[in-house]
Amino acid sequence: MAAIMALAERHDLVVIEDAAQALLSYYRGNPAGALGHFGVFSFHDTKNVMSGEGGGIVVNDARFVERAEIAYRYGTDRSAFDRGERQRYTWVDLGSSFAPNEITAAVLLAQLERAEEITHARRAMWARYHSAFAGLEAAGIARRPVVPEDVHHNAHLYYLLLRDQDARDRFISTMRLSGITTPFHFVPLDDSPGGLRYGRRHGMLPTTHSVAGRLVRLPLWFGMEQVQDRVIETVLAALKQ
Ligand SMILES: Cc1ncc(COP(=O)(O)O)c(C=O)c1O
Repeated sequence: MAAIMALAERHDLVVIEDAAQALLSYYRGNPAGALGHFGVFSFHDTKNVMSGEGGGIVVNDARFVERAEIAYRYGTDRSAFDRGERQRYTWVDLGSSFAPNEITAAVLLAQLERAEEITHARRAMWARYHSAFAGLEAAGIARRPVVPEDVHHNAHLYYLLLRDQDARDRFISTMRLSGITTPFHFVPLDDSPGGLRYGRRHGMLPTTHSVAGRLVRLPLWFGMEQVQDRVIETVLAALKQ
């Protein structure tokens, strides 16, 4: 992010930081979502803190606050009106209906109140996986996540990188036989039909493709402490074959 922000400053660009998965993560001591001119979070139900569907935008640059407020209120200056700064309100820009309904907001509020607790518990489970699989890494069977020193992560997910796609796919099948779902992760956009149609790439992105084929995620959810030992034992047994 430091490199991206420096580049943006040189070329007068606006950075929208995709912090969808990153709530309560820190980069060089600063919270994710506060690093770009805008930060966006997802509260989709796969996230650490969620409301089923939903998200939030953080406006970190005062230049954009007023327009963001207008966009949030259907393109009207209703917020300024509510503060008594206008006699009436009207449509002044683009916008839509972005506010969550009250049920969604209530779920999210309850989650946010426990966000630190949820993150703490996730980090403990993450650390437990990490030490349990040190031997796999030492034996060259799997690689564990590498966390850069200037990052404090929020344990959104735990993954292993296996030797090749065959090993990964066999692992997923073996785990499934024990009733444990271990999904792969995002597939590279540049070989998806939509990505090919709308995007472009520079080079062949060999690291992206190699990692996408070898990566497998392990279950990690708030409250899974009691079953984590079984998951660890099953992973170790599956990778010993
Ligand atoms: C990195 C990243 N960006 C964006 C999104 C989209 O978030 P939402 O589903 O809330 O629109 C996700 C959700 O999976 C994500 O992981």
